[in-house]
Amino acid sequence: MTATSIVIPDGMPQYEDQPRFDPALIRADFPILDREVNGHPLVYLDSGNTSQKPRQVIDAINEHLARHNGNVSRSVHTLGTEATLAYEGARAKVAAFINAPSPDEVVFTKNSTEAINLVAYSFLNASLSPKGDPRFKLGPGDEIVISEMEHHSNIVPWQLLAERTGATVRWFGITDAGRLDESELDELINERTKIVSIVHYSNILGTINATSRITARVREVGALLMLDCSQSVPHLPMDVVDYDVDFIAFTGHKMLGPTGIGVLWGRGELLAAMPPFLGGGSMIETVTMGGSTFAPPPMRFEAGTPPIAEAVGLGAAVDYLSAVGMKAISWYEKELTAYALDALQTVPGLRLFGPKVPVGRGGTLSFDLDGIHPHDVGQVLDAEGVQVRVGHHCARPTCVRFGVPAMTRASLYLYNTTADIDALVAGLEKVRKVFA
Ligand code: ALA
Repeated sequence: MTATSIVIPDGMPQYEDQPRFDPALIRADFPILDREVNGHPLVYLDSGNTSQKPRQVIDAINEHLARHNGNVSRSVHTLGTEATLAYEGARAKVAAFINAPSPDEVVFTKNSTEAINLVAYSFLNASLSPKGDPRFKLGPGDEIVISEMEHHSNIVPWQLLAERTGATVRWFGITDAGRLDESELDELINERTKIVSIVHYSNILGTINATSRITARVREVGALLMLDCSQSVPHLPMDVVDYDVDFIAFTGHKMLGPTGIGVLWGRGELLAAMPPFLGGGSMIETVTMGGSTFAPPPMRFEAGTPPIAEAVGLGAAVDYLSAVGMKAISWYEKELTAYALDALQTVPGLRLFGPKVPVGRGGTLSFDLDGIHPHDVGQVLDAEGVQVRVGHHCARPTCVRFGVPAMTRASLYLYNTTADIDALVAGLEKVRKVFA
C-alpha cells in the first residue's frame, strides 16, 4: 500500500460518482508533513485539536504582514485601506463558504469558545436590562438545552448563564452506540426552552448529529437553536440557510487557518436585536461621558483591534478548502474513516467509543487500549512519530458517560491517508508489547 492509495473496504459503496482529489497533491501543499518526529516520518492524527496549514495560508499571512499591514476601519491611509479591504474580504469569503445571506452576519471572534460565550453573555446582558429583547431574557423557570457530548465550551458558558439568571440547564444523553439520545426530545425541548445549543460533530465520539428533528421541535416551541460547528465546518459542506439554525460557532485553526480567529454566524435579525458582549473601540455608534450607543452587527460584537492577519489567513484557508471542494473532502474522509474503523477493530484489546460504522460519524476516533493509560499510549505512539491526542478532550462528561477518565483519540483530515492509519495500528501493536 502506498502513502496515497485509498483502499475502500470490501462491501463499501465505491462512490465513483463523487468528486475526488489526489491526496498526494494535497500533502505536497503542507510543508510540515515533510518533517520527521523522533526519527520517523510525521504521522499527524490530531487535526481535531488543530489542523496543519498549507503553504497557501502561510504565504497569505506572510504577504499581508510584509506588504499590507495596517489597522482596520479607522485609518484613511493606503495601508489602513488595504488592511480593511483584506479583513472585510475575508468576512465575505467566510460568509459565502457557509452560505450566509450577508457578510454582516459573520462576526469574527477569537475562537469558537468566544463565539459561544458571545451569545451566552449577550443573553445575560439582555436578561439584566429592562429593555432586553424577550427572546434573549432568561430567568427562573426558563430552560437551556445542551447535550452530554458537548465540548466544555458548549457547557460552561450556559452553566454560568443559568447560575446568573436562575434558569436551568438540561441535556440530551448519549446512547451506548455514541449517538445523541433523542428518545425524550419532545419533553426535553418544551415551552420553557429559550435556547438549544448542540454540538454538530462531536470532538470526542466523532458522531455527526442529525439536526432536523431538533430544529423542528425548536421551531414548534419558539426557542432558538445554536450549533457548535467547530469540528463540522472544517470537514463538511455547511449551509446555514439549509440547516435552518439561528447561530453557529466555528474556529479558524481547525480548518487550515491560523489560531486566534473564530466565527460566530447569527441570523441578521437576531444579531441586530442582541446587546453587545465586550465594550470598547470600533463597536460604538457614539460615546458621551453619560453613555454610549452601539454600531450595528458585526461591528457591535468586535470591540478593539480585531485579528486582522488571522482573518486574512482564514480567508486563504476558505479559498483552499473551496478549491478542493467540501463535498470531495467529506467523501474522502468518509472512505478513510471506514478504513480506520475496520483497521482499529482488528487491534486486540481496543475498545472504540462512538459509532462503529461510518454513517453519521466523521473521522474522529477515540478508544481505550487494554486499560493502558492514554498518556502512556500517546507517549509510545509519539516515539514512533504518530501524533494523537490523549485525555478527556475537554469533553469530560462524555468520558464519565462511558466510564473512563480519558481516551486516546486519532482525528483525520484531508491530508491523511490509509498509510497514516496503518502506522497508527502498527504503533498500537508496539504499545501493547511495551505494556504486556
Ligand atoms: N482542541 C479541542 C480538541 O482537541 C477542542 O477537541
